[in-house]
Amino acid sequence: MPANEAGNVRSHENREAKTLKGKIRAVRGVQDVLPPQTDVWQRVEAVARNAFRRYGFGEIKIPVFEQTRLFARGIGESTDIVHKEMYTFEDRGGDSITLRPEATASIVRAYLEHHLDRTGDVTKLYCIGPMFRYERPQAGRLRQFHQINCEIFGAFRPAVDAEVIALAWEILSELGLQGLTVNINTLGDAADRPGYLEALRAYFVGRLGGLCEDCNRRFRENPLRILDCRNSSCQKAIAGAPAYSDHVSEKSKRNFEEVQRLLKEEEIPHQVNPRLVRGLDYYTHTAFEITAEGLGAKNAVAGGGRYDGLVETLGGPPTPATGFAIGVERLVSLVPKGQDERDPAKVFLVALGERAASNAFGWAQKWRKAGLTVVWDYEGRSLKAQMKKADRSGAAFAVLIGD
Ligand code: HAM
Repeated sequence: MPANEAGNVRSHENREAKTLKGKIRAVRGVQDVLPPQTDVWQRVEAVARNAFRRYGFGEIKIPVFEQTRLFARGIGESTDIVHKEMYTFEDRGGDSITLRPEATASIVRAYLEHHLDRTGDVTKLYCIGPMFRYERPQAGRLRQFHQINCEIFGAFRPAVDAEVIALAWEILSELGLQGLTVNINTLGDAADRPGYLEALRAYFVGRLGGLCEDCNRRFRENPLRILDCRNSSCQKAIAGAPAYSDHVSEKSKRNFEEVQRLLKEEEIPHQVNPRLVRGLDYYTHTAFEITAEGLGAKNAVAGGGRYDGLVETLGGPPTPATGFAIGVERLVSLVPKGQDERDPAKVFLVALGERAASNAFGWAQKWRKAGLTVVWDYEGRSLKAQMKKADRSGAAFAVLIGD
């Protein structure tokens, strides 16, 4: 082997050895959540689970990955999620698999696979877990994030739309979020869509030069998706685009008015955003997003709406459905920090001397069995050091044992 080639190989080996020994960091766009932040997560989940119980939902656990075609067909080929954000890979058996970018398509699949459509009853399901989207990481936008997600199948009444909005609202306000606003719009039904798409085409055709490359593609594939674009030059054109509500039937309009009336009755502040179409293809009738103070207008903390065609698109019978998802990371970032309160059921056991230390385990076990949280210093440090630790631990009591 020539000398310089041998040198290259050696330096490559050195580099490799260094990387193996060096620190391995988490992948870009994902995050670890550590205590005490995980306490906030637990509180968020507890509040959500409790609200779901009050509204009559049951929990469903669904896989983190599915066949790619479920999302392609369910969410829509022209959406950003399917077009460029999915984590898709071929498994060892040659099947195309995708990490779930959202939960709705999976829940519909499970609803049909387990014949819940044949119960003749309304089905109300919720799930909490991670989703995966290959987005550009930035504040409030991750590649692995978590959603609190719920769906109702088999009910069409506008009251059901109002109910899911009220449920999301309740979870967010119970957690103390400020400046909540519900933005809603109607996307009508399948019969209304061709007329609206035509109106969008007529409006954007003379403005293609001012639209980004992606929006030019969206124009050809599905002009509805132009309305999701966050690009500032596209936003200018979007501001004057026709409103969906001018292209929906009288029946759809009446439905939408009824949803708004019910929200008003419940004193849930809302505003109609005529250009809100949401980034997934399956929405019909009421679509909504909830924004909160501190997130920036582009980042909603929750989004959802009615999707009466999706069950059929995925091979089931025509079934009205509606639901929402709350982004957990965004929600947690908005939960006001509680007072630095001490836990009244937590005891810090300060053991002084060898004999006390050997009894500490027994005492800790006894009190734990009685339901208290007990922590103690395993290292037998000085009284001062242990008292400092007791103070930092958040315990309401320090119990000193010693000779
Ligand atoms: P979505 O609007 O795509 O809707 O996501 C819902 C929420 O998830 C967003 O409002 C946001 O809080 C959070 N979220 C989305 N992407 C990210 C990200 N990259 N990083 C952090 N948080 C994110 C859905 O997923 C629908 N499946 C909701 C639904 C359920 N519609 C009907 N049923």
